[in-house]
Amino acid sequence: MKIYDLINFGAKTLKNKGILSNRLDSEILLSYAMGISREKLLINEKNVGSDEINKFKTFILRRSKKEPVAYITKIKEFRSKNFFVDKNSLVPRPETELLIDPIISFFKEKKIFFLDVGIGTGCIIFSILNELKYSKAIGIDNCKKTLTNARKNLIKLELENRAKILNRSINKIFGYKFDLIVSNPPYIRTRDLNHLSDDITNYEPRSALDGGNDGLDVIKKVIYKSTQILKLNGILALEIGTGQYKQVKRILSENKFKLIVTVKDYKDNIRCIYSTLK
Ligand SMILES: C[S@@+](CC[C@H](N)C(=O)[O-])C[C@H]1O[C@@H](n2cnc3c(N)ncnc32)[C@H](O)[C@@H]1O
Repeated sequence: MKIYDLINFGAKTLKNKGILSNRLDSEILLSYAMGISREKLLINEKNVGSDEINKFKTFILRRSKKEPVAYITKIKEFRSKNFFVDKNSLVPRPETELLIDPIISFFKEKKIFFLDVGIGTGCIIFSILNELKYSKAIGIDNCKKTLTNARKNLIKLELENRAKILNRSINKIFGYKFDLIVSNPPYIRTRDLNHLSDDITNYEPRSALDGGNDGLDVIKKVIYKSTQILKLNGILALEIGTGQYKQVKRILSENKFKLIVTVKDYKDNIRCIYSTLK
């Protein structure tokens, strides 16, 4: 079978299952099955071998059951770097990339010491370290399994000398003072968890999504703790859920934080909040 026919077969199968990104997914999965890049795939005219076809069909079957593409390929690109990911970590999201730019502008060439709360794959902490070359950081997560993935990425990106990873909850951080605390915490309300798309509900770790009754459980913990471990003039950078801006702004203000700037996502929702201690 030719590449073009296989892409069409995969796209059609996924379309029948209601998957909107069917063609893109089919291309990514075929390039993964063949071990070549998507760009090379699209200019390749050759017949595909039966082993590769079988692999591809297995991947299409998994995707048609709504398994995220990143869990099949074990890779997700984030700010132009590939991160290892599997079912034990949240798949890094494009909107989380938005959290990084203002941080890089605030601190530019500076040498800072920062904390990432809930590192998952490590996409935030390692992206910041890649861009702030003189800085060091601690990344924490209370999920042991996701830390195995974060450690793989730490080694892959050669950042072992600049980052320490701890299996710790935010409540258990003492004795440090940071220039920056960054977090993309779980922020979905518990009762909304079952109404998300099947890709998320059936596959992604609940502990990475569940923000408790009002979705703000972990955000509140991060804010309270930051009053003790953030340096004066340090920055607290948070990713928040849709519609949480007003509540989070109030909690920040009650805890003596002053808002510096906000960033909207591609759907015009305020997604990132940056503040400093008054
Ligand atoms: C939404 S995920 C974010 C993962 C990653 N930073 C990203 O942006 O893709 C939230 C992460 O916070 C972790 N987490 C939840 N509660 C926590 C707590 N109290 N202390 C530390 N980490 C926590 C979860 O295990 C999960 O990995």
